[in-house]
This record gives sequence, structure tokens and C-alpha cells, in this order.
Amino acid sequence: MSKIKLAGLPETGLHGELTMPGDKSISHRALMIGAISHGKTVVDHFLWSKDCQQTLKALQALGVELKVDQQQIIVNGQGFSGLKAAADWLEMGNSGTTTRLLMGILAGRDFTSYLRGDASLSRRPMKRVSQPLRQLGAKITPSPAGTLPLKIKGASLHGSTVKLAVASAQVKSALIFAALQASAPSTIIEKLPTRNHTEIMLQKFGARVTTAADNLTIKVEPGAKLSGQEIRVPGDISSAAFFLVAATIVPHSDLIIKNVNLNPTRTGILRVLQRMGAAIDIDRLPNDGEPLGSIEVRSAQLQPVKIHAAEIPAIIDELPLVALLAACAAGTSKITGAAELRVKETDRIATVTAELKKLGVQVTELPDGMIIQGISNWQQQTNQLESYGDHRIGMMLAIAALRSKQQFFLNHAEAVAVSYPEFFSDLQTLLQNSK
Ligand code: S3P
Repeated sequence: MSKIKLAGLPETGLHGELTMPGDKSISHRALMIGAISHGKTVVDHFLWSKDCQQTLKALQALGVELKVDQQQIIVNGQGFSGLKAAADWLEMGNSGTTTRLLMGILAGRDFTSYLRGDASLSRRPMKRVSQPLRQLGAKITPSPAGTLPLKIKGASLHGSTVKLAVASAQVKSALIFAALQASAPSTIIEKLPTRNHTEIMLQKFGARVTTAADNLTIKVEPGAKLSGQEIRVPGDISSAAFFLVAATIVPHSDLIIKNVNLNPTRTGILRVLQRMGAAIDIDRLPNDGEPLGSIEVRSAQLQPVKIHAAEIPAIIDELPLVALLAACAAGTSKITGAAELRVKETDRIATVTAELKKLGVQVTELPDGMIIQGISNWQQQTNQLESYGDHRIGMMLAIAALRSKQQFFLNHAEAVAVSYPEFFSDLQTLLQNSK
């Protein structure tokens, strides 16, 4: 399904209910933490997407016993020392999370590993992980460009205090996994608070990982025995975000999105929607560990918004959607402090700007963000939209097309399978309700 015809404006709006697939970040972590723990971990509502399968296959290649049964995965963990050298390259595909988290796990093993990925992942920076890991004694050699392919020569790790230069949950998680294998406690200091799924899940498995009141300083004490657990993966707010935005910008819509993870380190999109005047009601459900709930959303007129560095980590994956919201708002919006977008699956400042311009939206690229002029009647420049192989760009464009009566085609639509394989069928369900 490389090139597909996108659905246009549904005259009566989008209606119905959707239950979200499992969270991508939590699915990766459930397998990895299950693997480094002792005993059986049962993972329910696992996200069966390309990225998460990459983690599953890499762990199998490292000798971990995993049983796959529909959306349930059973991991038979044998602790860190149960991991064995892979016979060949470890394939990372398009998955930055698989790569960076495994770097932390493999840095402390007594064997050498070789990691490689697809063309997009092979352009993404890995020194942001290898350099801070070196402070714990890790021996990782990325390519001369600081990217994949890379070699991890397992080493004896020691405790350290590491101040991170980038606000990244992937980098932080790699450091935590390495620190768990070190000979003494470590302190990791973040630049800004980022998603804390690794910390929450490790605590559940028995690890001594604590976050100080500043939400930036994480202490890791090695030595605690990690024991297998039952994990029910909550729905992914980053997937829900596409439909929250769709219902907001398509007139006459009313949707309920169920089973959404409401961890505040991830809910920046809800705060931005509320600031812009969106009509959302959040129903929180009791849940230990990761907060959970349903969200009802109705269409609304939007105000422009300003987004600064401090709120970027909680909305990092939703910024293409924020640009789309801004394109529909009455006035000029500005996103700054988001230079991290340049090193995602694509340079998302460049790809969002290029694609929104095709829709007739005025967008000015900044080194670390965008200025977006909202207009109600877009003047399409072409009917060919491009995902550039980036799942989130492809899905944002499919939502954008719903605002228009004109016909659009999306190239490289298959990219959505990286995080949300059922995206087009879920959209189709809503469109059928609208007939
Ligand atoms: C992720 C962290 C974020 C996010 C990515 C998933 C994670 O990346 O963009 O989609 O699971 O830890 P960074 O850590 O690079 O910001």
C-alpha cells in the first residue's frame, strides 16, 4: 500500500469510539525489562507494530525466550546474565528506542554486539548515548559520523554522576539500564523531565530507582533482584493524538477515545489542545503505575498557540500534529525550542513545513521550530503528499486531508505500521459511522 488515496472531509463529522493500541514506549520497555528480570513476565495489550517487533527479534537473537500469542507476550527472563552474544548483526530497523535502550543493556554484558538499522535510523545521532555511557565505563564505537552501525564491547561498569546534555528519555533509559549493572550507585541528571516509563516499570520489577522532587535527578542503586511481573500495556496517547486532533479540526465531530495512557510526561498534547480552545473531557480511571483514562473530544474553533522548550519533551512526538492544529487556528502560532525534531525519523521541521506548504498553509521554518499562519481555506498546491517513510508525518497528513474537500494521495503510506498498524482501518471505522 505504498501510495494511497486519502479520505477527504466527512460532511457530518467523525463519530464513534476507538480503543487505543498499546503504548509503543511501554511495549519496548516491557520486553526489555522482562528479559533482564528473573522469571515469567506476561505482557498484555503489547503493541504489535514494526518498531516493537524489532525489540522482540533483537531479544530473541540475544538468547531470550519469548512466547508470542496474539497480543500477549510471555518473556522468560534469566536476568542480565541470561543474555548471550548474538550470532550476527542485531537488526534495529527503524527503531530508535530499540537501539538506544539496548545500548545501555548491552554495555554491561561480557560479550560484543553489533547493531545496524535502516537508512533513516542510520542517520540519527548515537553519540548522545555512547558518550554519557562512557562515564560509566562503557566501550561503544559508533560509525565515524556518530551513528549506526555501531559496536558495543561489553565492559565492567562503575557508578558515576552523569549530567545529560539532551532532554531524551531514550538516553536517560540507556543510562539507567547501564547503571543497574554497575559496581556502585549512579546519579543521572536530566536537562528537562522526560517520559518516565522506564523508572515506573523498573520499580514495579523491584529495582531501586528513585526520582528526586526536582523530577530531574534519578538515583540508581544496582544489586536488587528484578522479578518477572504482569504488565498490561496502556493505550498510546501518541496514537490517540491523531484522532483527538482529527475530531477537533473536522466540524460536527464527537469521538470517544478509550484506554489512553495519561502519564503527565506524555500528555503535553492535551494541555496544548486545552490552551487552543479544544473541547476535550478527560475521564480518569483508577490504575496503579501508569495513569489511564478515556477522552471525549468534539470539534472546536482554535486559538493560536506558543510552545517553548520547557514543554517540548511531553509533546515531542505530537509536534507535527500541533503544527496541523496551528494551521487551522485563527492567527499565528510559534513553536520554538524544538531542535530535537530535526533528528527524529525525518527532520520533522523540514518535512512538516514542506507538506503543510503543499496544503497552502504559510509556514516559516526556524532552526528550532516553526511559525505557522492558520487559515480556514487551504489552497492546495498539489494532490501528492509524502510521508518520507516517517510514520507520524504520514498519519498527520491523513488527518490533514480530512479538513479538505479536495483529493489527496499519500506516498509511502506503509510507514504507519512503525507505530500504529491499524491506523487506516480505525480511521475507516470512524468514517463509516459518519455516512
Ligand atoms: C521515546 C522517547 C522519545 C520519543 C520516541 C520514544 C522512548 O525520543 O520521541 O518516540 O520510548 O523513550 P527521545 O528520547 O529521543 O526524545
